[in-house]
Amino acid sequence: MKRTAATALALLLGGSLALAQSAPQLASTLPAIPQASGIVGHYAMVVAQERIAARIGVEILDRGGNAVDAAVAVGFALAVTYPRAGNIGGGGFMVIHLAKDARGNPAQDIAIDYRETAPEAATPTMFLDAGGLPDPIKSRDSGLSVGVPGTVAGLALAHDKYGSGKLSLAELLAPAIRLAKQGFAVRDDLADSLPAAAAKLARFPSSASILLKDGGKPWQSGDRLIQADLADTLKAIADKGPRAFYEGLTAKLIADAVRKAGGIMTVEDLQSYRAIERPVVRGTYRGRTIVSMPPPSSGGVHLIEMLNILEGYDLRHLGRGDEALHYFIEAMKRAYADRAVFMGDPDAVKIPQAGLISKKYAEALRAGITAKATPAAELHAGKPAEYEGPNTTHFSVIDRDGNAVSNTYTLNFSYGLGLIADGTGVLLNNELDDFTAKAGASNAYGLVGFAANLPGPHKRPLSSMTPTIVLQDGKPLLVTGSPGGSRIITAVLQVVTNVIDFQMPVDDAVSAPRLHQQWQPEDTLVEPGFDPAVLAALAARGHRIVPTRPGTSVNSIEVTADGYVGAADPRTRGSLAAGY
Ligand code: GLY
Repeated sequence: MKRTAATALALLLGGSLALAQSAPQLASTLPAIPQASGIVGHYAMVVAQERIAARIGVEILDRGGNAVDAAVAVGFALAVTYPRAGNIGGGGFMVIHLAKDARGNPAQDIAIDYRETAPEAATPTMFLDAGGLPDPIKSRDSGLSVGVPGTVAGLALAHDKYGSGKLSLAELLAPAIRLAKQGFAVRDDLADSLPAAAAKLARFPSSASILLKDGGKPWQSGDRLIQADLADTLKAIADKGPRAFYEGLTAKLIADAVRKAGGIMTVEDLQSYRAIERPVVRGTYRGRTIVSMPPPSSGGVHLIEMLNILEGYDLRHLGRGDEALHYFIEAMKRAYADRAVFMGDPDAVKIPQAGLISKKYAEALRAGITAKATPAAELHAGKPAEYEGPNTTHFSVIDRDGNAVSNTYTLNFSYGLGLIADGTGVLLNNELDDFTAKAGASNAYGLVGFAANLPGPHKRPLSSMTPTIVLQDGKPLLVTGSPGGSRIITAVLQVVTNVIDFQMPVDDAVSAPRLHQQWQPEDTLVEPGFDPAVLAALAARGHRIVPTRPGTSVNSIEVTADGYVGAADPRTRGSLAAGY
């Protein structure tokens, strides 16, 4: 990897200086992770990366809406209050658990795929330069990188099929419209993140005039951010329904903006967009049921694959010492090697999903794990037997009836491409970089991919988003998920095992330092807070340990005998667990 590419990757993964400084030097400059506090409620709990939106979710629950209604309102509100990742110009995934109802309808688990799609004119070579090499400008920093947004279709589908029926879509949009029109005070992560995004936003007058003060400088804490065009776009959806986003003036303005920035999106691409319901991916872990997102996310499959590998070790007895962490790292390496080869859009490639999540396959992978680190170069994707047909945001919701929603959605990079489609207020994604530009090439998160994830017409790029609900005796035990690009799957893994194996209360489970390994590069990233002796022991086993800045934000809810305990991840300033 070239020095520049390595630096960019480390930046995205949260450790900008990781490869440039010695480990002890870097470790001493990294911020410590604050402790989360667990908030207890009995009737409602919403945990999100931004406080105004979290409170809107609770208000919807208070008005008789169910968890899906609240999630839809939070999703639209974050598009206003948390523009670096909350969106209507991107896409995502929602996993829903509907409890058995009073009329005797059985419990149901649902996955809604509202991932962005590639335009009709997309080709497998669209991100290559004249010499046939991957061109990151095309895939990350031009109109070509913009996928057809799925959020409006996804949230509307969730409301239409799984909402309580007591609140209309317009009622769920009303708080977001009010906030966009009247404005709100900039603070917390919005104030923290705008300076780094200012140069990117300043390139587009349509973005600078809204997201930068006087068109130039980042808004600061206490400034009022008004987004009048966004209010109008949201109002059109409230008045005319989701098709108002995909047809007519809004669709034309989005397609025009994307094409002006070098893209190929057409009004027809927007018109033909549909959110899709897919069967959830389901596994078990120490007697609990894991319900998560299937492809085109790799999250659920590889979460279950890693849990299956780890189930063979007595983690509770081992504690979070070097032996247990060694098994975590080795499980991660193997899952990410499989991810690179097998995973893509399930409507375009055949994915060996049943094999990847089978206990038998995990047993075979576990047999290859020794006391020493397996070098990445010696590890390749396995042979699952059966074939069958820092910049995303996650929130978790549960209502008084035990209905739960785990939702992760994204613009890909922080503030996406940085382009607001003129006249719409809609900030657009650069999600198509999650495709593989060329077999063997890696994306901005250093995730290597092969033929299964090449771009193509209407294809959905492979994701790592892992919205997950853990069930115990058929009822939610843990509602969880995270932003964080390639680090998402391993972050969710560690929160699940912190609760189940290490018996941590959810606030400790979320706050505990995390590590991350993704097969390539060889580095195992470690957040501040690990015992130095444990890290030294891991290094002695052959792991390349690299300190990294705290990343990811696993906003979670645990159902306990005392009630719903919400834990907002303290890694994001302004994240909030709200409930009663
Ligand atoms: N754009 C990050 C992901 O979907 O995994």
